[in-house]
Amino acid sequence: MALPKANSDFRVVITGASSGIGEELAKQFAEMGYSLLLVARRVDKLEQLAHSLKQKHAVEVDLYPCDLADRQARSKLKAFLTTIQVSVLCNNAGFATFGALQELDPEREAEEVEVNAVTVHDLTIAVLPQMIARKSGAILIVGSTSGHQPTPANATYAATKAFANSFAESLHSELKGTGVSCTLLAPGPTRTEFTEIAGISKIEGVGGQLVWVSADRVAKQAIEGMRCNKRIVIPGLLAQVQTVGGRYTPRVILLPILKHVFSRLKS
Ligand SMILES: NC(=O)c1ccc[n+]([C@@H]2O[C@H](COP(=O)([O-])OP(=O)(O)OC[C@H]3O[C@@H](n4cnc5c(N)ncnc54)[C@H](OP(=O)(O)O)[C@@H]3O)[C@@H](O)[C@H]2O)c1
Repeated sequence: MALPKANSDFRVVITGASSGIGEELAKQFAEMGYSLLLVARRVDKLEQLAHSLKQKHAVEVDLYPCDLADRQARSKLKAFLTTIQVSVLCNNAGFATFGALQELDPEREAEEVEVNAVTVHDLTIAVLPQMIARKSGAILIVGSTSGHQPTPANATYAATKAFANSFAESLHSELKGTGVSCTLLAPGPTRTEFTEIAGISKIEGVGGQLVWVSADRVAKQAIEGMRCNKRIVIPGLLAQVQTVGGRYTPRVILLPILKHVFSRLKS
């Protein structure tokens, strides 16, 4: 079985659990009886979520407030993860920036690399030894359709998600036979706080349900994918089309189109 059974001595660790896809993963794992460790910066949001999940599902919910862009804070989290039993790690925290690279805040770009890519690498490496030793564990890596092709005016994000996508698919294969699984969740447009934080909220909802998928559905498909030890989960029709287009359209055709579209997204 790719997804370890619920057990209150073990934790499902979810980064970016204070909103969107991470919050939905937390709700759905708790509903299935899993005890959780929730990681994000907004303590108030984590506390509210923990309170409601404990009341509804009688599971253990621990909080680990952490700025994952901060290497020192992340080191402490990495060390802490080696002291507890982690059955599932959901590497979900992330954000995007849009615009011409030279016009973007260099510090924010560096944080994007830390949160979307280096954190995924660090936390996976922190929990893998205990999972391998137990011959049991599941890792979810939230990449993106953006990771299947370079994207002008979204360069740092696409590059970090290329890292996440590639890392997840490599591990999926590498871990075969160890009892530990790794699944890539590569969503397309999903209704969360993502667009607002990226400063592209004007596109939220454009195209309706054919384009936008709910965070609840994305989380459901991710958990089902982990249960079946899928290599990759791509929720929604548009995301599937984007994946094929991104992987197989010649760059010489794709890049000018993406540049045209993405350089106009910022509100
Ligand atoms: N929504 C989409 O259209 C879409 C599409 C493809 C992929 N994704 C990916 O899905 C994942 C989840 O995003 P979402 O759509 O659910 O967006 P969201 O609602 O904005 O949630 C992002 C989460 O990441 C956390 N986070 C951001 N920076 C952090 C930091 N420095 N330290 C710790 N936590 C941090 C946030 O928590 P705090 O602010 O409380 O720290 C929040 O819980 C991301 O990796 C994103 O790239 C989203």
